Amino acid sequence: MTKILVTGGAGFIGANFVHYTLKNKPDYKITVLDALTYAGSKNNLKAAMDKITFIEGDITDSELVDKLISENEIVVHFAAESHNDNSLLDQWPFINTNIIGTYTILQAVRKHEKRLHHISTDEVCGDLELDDPNKFTESTPYNPSSPYSSAKASSDMLVRAWVRSFGVKATISNCSNNYGPYQHIEKMIPRQITNLLFGQKLKLYGLGENVRDWIHVDDHNSAVHTILEKGKIGETYLIGANGEKSNIEVFNLILKMMGKDNSWLDHVKDRPGHDMRYAIDSSKLQKELGWKPTFTNFEEGLANTIDWYRDNQWWWEPLKAKVEAKYKAQGQ
Ligand code: NAD
Ligand code: TYD
Repeated sequence: MTKILVTGGAGFIGANFVHYTLKNKPDYKITVLDALTYAGSKNNLKAAMDKITFIEGDITDSELVDKLISENEIVVHFAAESHNDNSLLDQWPFINTNIIGTYTILQAVRKHEKRLHHISTDEVCGDLELDDPNKFTESTPYNPSSPYSSAKASSDMLVRAWVRSFGVKATISNCSNNYGPYQHIEKMIPRQITNLLFGQKLKLYGLGENVRDWIHVDDHNSAVHTILEKGKIGETYLIGANGEKSNIEVFNLILKMMGKDNSWLDHVKDRPGHDMRYAIDSSKLQKELGWKPTFTNFEEGLANTIDWYRDNQWWWEPLKAKVEAKYKAQGQ
């Protein structure tokens, strides 16, 4: 058994990583470290709790992080403040968790000579024009736009420096927008689905021309396992599944799949500094490590996600009023 520490394992992608690992990689013994912020919940790990060790704690707590890392062989670091809109309202949690938290983890993996995989986002590259023929690659310069993406970019830079200066055994992945079960209802797709289930209209920022490159969360996590198994230390891998769609396209699909017409669509205030387009070229991961996405049909993946939110009202309903009140105060 390989002992693996998963930071942020009670959040959206981290919890799906735990479920995916229990199902597909039985040789891992999992410990989750999660602060259970507003974005994390033991409800996300309900079916896994008796098969893992769960530690409630903060990644900036150096004593706790040092102890847990000394007891595990691999660290997969998902924990982060992850929402752009929140980063426009209050920046400190992003600086503290994403930068100081990653620094704290780096010092412990350096001291105990453990393997680290750092989870990051394509948003570190900034954005592309709608008509740009290029996509992001591993050599695209960093050019982050928001407090969220700049704090993630900072954390990536720290990992690169600790690899080069101190020989830390780390890899990095930068993935595009994920969708799937257990995604917090502040994010675009779950917010819209739960709005309709709640009898409210969809809330589209601006004209909805912005493009995101959607990937199913299980494809993200299968890529992370591929990197853990075959990735080269010190390397960065971009993860994406050719899922580019404009926001208005996704909104129209949600309306159609949930049996509603255009009168259920509200145009609301645009996000300041809103990135126009993200697009990933994942050839390095595909060619060098042999990874391939499984969920190649976005409409099917979206339909399953709608079903999940419909079937799991208990999971999101208690959060809904508070999330919407916060958006309403911002004109969104
Ligand atoms: P999330 O917000 O759903 O979950 C974050 C988790 O981290 C929560 O469980 C939270 O409690 C925990 N956490 C936050 N601060 C912590 C702290 N100080 N100490 C310990 N735990 C803490 O986020 P997510 O969408 O699952 O994203 C996970 C990772 O993947 C992040 O690093 C994010 O940047 C990256 N990422 C996300 C996407 C996406 O589409 N969601 C895409 C690419 C990369
Ligand atoms: P989001 O899920 O916040 O992810 P990110 O900012 O990391 O891309 O938003 C995805 C896109 O959807 C982004 O272009 C902003 C837009 N959006 C809306 O149009 N309405 C919404 O209610 C939200 C939350 C986002």
